[in-house]
Amino acid sequence: MRLQKYIAQCGVASRRHAEELIRMGKVRVNGRTVTEMGVLVSPKDKVEINGKIIRQEKRMVYIMLNKPSGYVTTVSDPEGRKTVLDLIKGVEERIYPVGRLDYDTTGLLLLTNDGDFAHACTHPGKEITKTYMAEVSGMPSNDTLHALRSGVILDGVRTAPAQVDVVEIKDKSTILKIVIHEGKNRQVKRMCEAVGHPVLKLKRTAVGKLGLSGLKLGQWRYLTPKEVKLIKGGRND
Ligand code: URA
Repeated sequence: MRLQKYIAQCGVASRRHAEELIRMGKVRVNGRTVTEMGVLVSPKDKVEINGKIIRQEKRMVYIMLNKPSGYVTTVSDPEGRKTVLDLIKGVEERIYPVGRLDYDTTGLLLLTNDGDFAHACTHPGKEITKTYMAEVSGMPSNDTLHALRSGVILDGVRTAPAQVDVVEIKDKSTILKIVIHEGKNRQVKRMCEAVGHPVLKLKRTAVGKLGLSGLKLGQWRYLTPKEVKLIKGGRND
């Protein structure tokens, strides 16, 4: 197997990131620093990144969780708060969350130990959409909806066009369906804040073509091979 694929299957980096690590001279195979691409390795070889031996995961794991509010999306929290991994029992592989949902955001979160899969989900160029239901304060005007759709300036950069639909108008708030394919930090909340309609509640309902399909809050399940392929864009080598 090519070295960069092996590194991705160890769950430490995507293939692309693995190539960078190789180029930077951070990878050693059987004690020799490798900087050229395409070197072939097998599980018998000793592969080190920054001096640390990496091992292939026993199996690639892909999980969908319906994240409740009150959990941080990290593997461990220095402040001792509950993490999304506390909700996933009985999985031995070293899985980690793909992207991030805020502490108070609920909904679809993927976890994996496959660096390539994580990269496919989070890389903006791959255009995997993320669908959110955002309950925002007040009722956005047509002009405001147009502004959200065409892009809002965050940190001096305009967000990519988004799909924004009004789902429900309540007394003092509005539920918007917002589809984006970027993953800037707190993007949905900051977009809505920027147009004067702060988010009161946020739920992610889909990533690409994957929906929550009946998973209750706090429940999780493994993805099917077909679902994994949908995210990886059919690439399965
Ligand atoms: N955008 C946000 O603002 N928060 C999330 O948790 C996800 C997307």
